[in-house]
Amino acid sequence: MPARLEIEGGVPLLGTVKVSAAKNAALPAMAAALLTSEPVTLANAPDLADVRTMGRLLETVGARVSRIAGGLRVQVARVTSDLAPYELVSTMRASVLVLGPLVARHGTARVALPGGCAIGVRPIDQHLKGLQKLGADIAIENGYVSARASRLKAARITTDLVTVTGTENLMMAAVLAEGTTVIENAAREPEVVDLATLLTAMGARIQGAGTARIEIEGVVELGGAVHRVVPDRVEAGTLIVAAAITGGDVTVTDLVPDHISSVLAKLDEIGVVLEMGPTWVRARCPERPRPADVTTSPFPGFPTDMQAQVMALLGLADGQSRVTETIFENRFMHVAELARMGARIETEGAIAIVRGVPGYQGAPVMASDLRASAALVLAGLAARGTTIVARVYHLDRGYERLEVKLGALGARIVRRA
Ligand code: EPU
Repeated sequence: MPARLEIEGGVPLLGTVKVSAAKNAALPAMAAALLTSEPVTLANAPDLADVRTMGRLLETVGARVSRIAGGLRVQVARVTSDLAPYELVSTMRASVLVLGPLVARHGTARVALPGGCAIGVRPIDQHLKGLQKLGADIAIENGYVSARASRLKAARITTDLVTVTGTENLMMAAVLAEGTTVIENAAREPEVVDLATLLTAMGARIQGAGTARIEIEGVVELGGAVHRVVPDRVEAGTLIVAAAITGGDVTVTDLVPDHISSVLAKLDEIGVVLEMGPTWVRARCPERPRPADVTTSPFPGFPTDMQAQVMALLGLADGQSRVTETIFENRFMHVAELARMGARIETEGAIAIVRGVPGYQGAPVMASDLRASAALVLAGLAARGTTIVARVYHLDRGYERLEVKLGALGARIVRRA
């Protein structure tokens, strides 16, 4: 039976907890190692299922991946294969991040089409359109996309929508292209900025990362670098909600408060008492949460990756909230599970109406995707009685030892094999 978490709820969390390095920054950083024959060292990297999957994927195309104290070293002395196989891509959509750097360095890349996932269809048309603009020949055959180019040529690319990994893929392709590429409507997420920082340390010339217009002057070659990955803003937000939902008092450290300002603003509206310094946030929630309306949008808006967790908190608010999901079409799978714990939530399309209840009851529930699983753990921490969250492998994809961190704050939570 897959591992599950057993939670005895009702304990206010107290203490201090550190945030790990960001999964969604570590994955593109690992893919960036494909752009050079020299080693790329991530001084910190979370120990997560998705990071291991990316490591295996890079190994299949010729990388040597080694774990170093707290971090990771990736070296692709020579690309030995251009194939990202379906077995790996189907377990992790972020695998598509190897497409841009592989074609840029090696001239060809074959990557299995990721297909749908639990939270929606998630096409990669913007990645492919952008690569075509950079001069790559793209073909789709037998479930694989193949890209080919002797040397990519700079282009002006305007993406039809804001895409995080799409922006990252195109940045990694453009750094070795001939001439100056401009990406308009680029994603502004901190993880995009972090990738630009790493690429710059490797010798790339990039301006405007963190704005909607990124300019990249191609160079002939990149070298190795040592890089510190940004803190995980979604883990930080999740831990702050854990403090709030249990009526606890927790200081979350090693984070960048500016990266979660939209989340902090919403939590403040909900009645969470927040204090902050340059790298920490202290969160308390002495009163019952107040209702609030939340609409997800690309950075710096409210992140879709925090929607489920904040919904778990709003489920206990004194009144009615409205949560609108604009990024993914199927990201309400936590709703039915929260209902099993007593939540009163109705969805219609992209909108969830959350009628706050005074408390949750523990129940067996099923994790369906990463952030939905986090929401169920949070609800379990607040609930009266025992909650068993099954299929916890979803959680393990993106949270480093979450139950250990929560346990150190006083939560009664154990992993059962
Ligand atoms: N989209 C397209 N065509 C494309 C690319 C995207 O239609 O070519 C659509 C998607 O289907 C979605 C929207 O555009 O509706 C935004 O998707 P985006 O490409 O930004 O998402 P992503 O890059 O695949 C990353 C994170 C996700 C996070 C989203 C949104 C990584 C590895 N993943 O995904 O993280 O939810 O951005 O912020 O960075 C998670 O960590 O739980 C997670 C799902």
